Amino acid sequence: MKIGLFDSGIGGTTILNTIKTILPNEEYQYIADSKNCPYGEKSDQELQNIVTRNVEALKNWGAKIIVIACNTATTRCISYLRSQYPDIHFVGTEPAIKLATNTNAQNILVMATPGTIESERLQTLLEENQKSNQTITLLACPGLADLIEQNYQSNNLAPIANYLKQLFKNLDTKPDVIVLGCTHYSLIKNQIQSFFRTIQLIDGNSGVAARVKELVQK
Ligand code: DGL
Repeated sequence: MKIGLFDSGIGGTTILNTIKTILPNEEYQYIADSKNCPYGEKSDQELQNIVTRNVEALKNWGAKIIVIACNTATTRCISYLRSQYPDIHFVGTEPAIKLATNTNAQNILVMATPGTIESERLQTLLEENQKSNQTITLLACPGLADLIEQNYQSNNLAPIANYLKQLFKNLDTKPDVIVLGCTHYSLIKNQIQSFFRTIQLIDGNSGVAARVKELVQK
C-alpha cells in the first residue's frame, strides 16, 4: 500500500517512524515542506494552497492513504481536503486532548502552534473531553517549530533551550500532563521533559499509527 505523509518539515518524521514500526512493509513517501515552514503562522487560504500542492504531489505518486503529519494542517484543513479529494483516505494528527483528559491529571498544558491554538477544532476537542475538575491551559508557541526546523538536525539545541526557558517561566501552575500539540515538539521531548522532570508528555503519534494500520488492514 502506498502511504503518503507531509508536514512543514521534519516534525512529521516522528509519525512516519511510529507508523513504520507497526507497518514495516508498506511504501512511504514523505514531504518535508520546510520551505513553507511555519504552517502555524499562515492564513487559512495560504494553508489550503500549500496542503493542496502536497496532496497533489502525493496523489500523483499513487498514495491511497495520506497522513497529515501536522496538527496545524489537520485542525485547519482536513475537512477541506476530505471535501476536495473524496477518493483519498486522510488520517489527521490532532492534539491528544482525549488521551490527556482520560488520565487523572487536573492541570493540563497544551503546547501548539498559534494556528492550532486558534482553530475551531481545538475548541471542539476541549468541549468534548474536558472534565469538570480539570484546568486546561493553552500555550501558543510562535516560532518554536521554525526554531526546531532550523536547529535540530545540526544539533544546535541552545536556541531551543532558551526559547523554552522564556516560555515556561511565566506559567502560573505546574502542569500534571503536557500535550505536545505539534509534531515538531515530539523531537524535543527530552528537552521539554528536563523542565518538568516527573510529568507525563503526551503526543498523538501512536493513535495516528493505529488508525493507519486499521485502514491498511481494511
Ligand atoms: N509540525 C506542525 C504541527 O504539528 C507544524 C509546525 C509549523 O510549521 O508551524 O503543527
